[in-house]
Amino acid sequence: MYQQWVAEERALIKACFGEQRPYWGHMINSVSSPPGFALHLKACVQRTADAAHGSALNILEVGCFAGISTLAIMEGIHQFNLGHGCITVIDPGCHVNNLYPNEAFDHGGRDLATWGQLDLLDYNATLLGWRQAIHLQVNYSGRVLPSFPDAAFDLISIDGDHEYASVLTDMREAARLLKRDGMMCGDDYGMPGVRQAYHEVFPHIPVPPSSFWTLRRTNDGFEPVNPPIEAAARLDFLGDQHSRFLATLAQCGFFLFPPKSWRFIHDRAEAVLRQYARVAIYGAGKLTSVLLRLLDPVLVQRVDRILDDRPESASGGLPLTPVRPDTLRPGTLPDAILVCCEAWDMDMMNKARSRGLSTPVYSVFQGGEVQGFRRSGFNG
Ligand SMILES: C[S@@+](CC[C@H](N)C(=O)[O-])C[C@H]1O[C@@H](n2cnc3c(N)ncnc32)[C@H](O)[C@@H]1O
Repeated sequence: MYQQWVAEERALIKACFGEQRPYWGHMINSVSSPPGFALHLKACVQRTADAAHGSALNILEVGCFAGISTLAIMEGIHQFNLGHGCITVIDPGCHVNNLYPNEAFDHGGRDLATWGQLDLLDYNATLLGWRQAIHLQVNYSGRVLPSFPDAAFDLISIDGDHEYASVLTDMREAARLLKRDGMMCGDDYGMPGVRQAYHEVFPHIPVPPSSFWTLRRTNDGFEPVNPPIEAAARLDFLGDQHSRFLATLAQCGFFLFPPKSWRFIHDRAEAVLRQYARVAIYGAGKLTSVLLRLLDPVLVQRVDRILDDRPESASGGLPLTPVRPDTLRPGTLPDAILVCCEAWDMDMMNKARSRGLSTPVYSVFQGGEVQGFRRSGFNG
């Protein structure tokens, strides 16, 4: 399955480059937010355009990765505001050489393995004719945001460094930079740094309904808004790749990881299962359910339980019913705990260890190679 996936992706990316049409596939998806965030952003642009009554929109995006979100915003500007508007994008472009790590081939005399995230943004935006309206600042938000004047932007998206200190600065600066009636949004409310900063900067705003959060600036503060994503919402710039995009929405637990890091996760899990006879997996999400389908079935028999803080929220396909981690008692312990969760792995590792148990705790993300794909650690 893994080899087939790589082959299909390779064929798609070659076809897109050969025919000079935009590419948005799983390589770009690797560090992207869940695909729904792009639709959410487009809905935010629609709502912002309604309030702007035809004037040009000035939009700010912190953290674009390879630009699916940027292009969704640009498409919104064209669809809902007759193309009047521009977007300032801030991203240090740290993810270089990751897009096609083991599968290098030439594109225009340049080995694709040397492409970075912002090259893909540049490629797609240029083909779509939107490049001129995208003002890219290759830098850290903390260094750039203070230089902008107050109340300069109609819409601000915050999806850069997800560490608490950086998010705090981004949110505080965004509050200053937003026009009255302007909207501010972001992803990953579920991540600890984002959540903490959110409630510190907006103490009276309730928990958002999903990992996407959106606020509108009022006369004297902020209020939560929930821009409706119409059933018909499409990202037309994706063309024939739109259906893949929707499939990704359904399966993002798998597709969030590019082949190299997926291989790493897979091998890491197998190594732990080979070493111990009874392993508890901590995390009952999509990543676990996909992993269990791909691992050697003989080794999977060594998984003796699934731990999850919310056992009722288990996703389909798990062979075991999850139990809470606090059911771990001396005498009933597994030989090892394998943490299998992207967003919460450090929390879960600390929690498993803080119970004072001597059981060894591993994460499928531990190790040098995969660190580059994690969504943190880019403090400027
Ligand atoms: C989760 S990705 C953004 C995904 C994108 N918004 C999307 O929907 O596809 C986070 C991005 O933030 C960038 N980043 C990391 N630290 C940053 C910082 N201090 N300022 C601005 N961007 C940062 C990373 O380079 C990465 O491209």
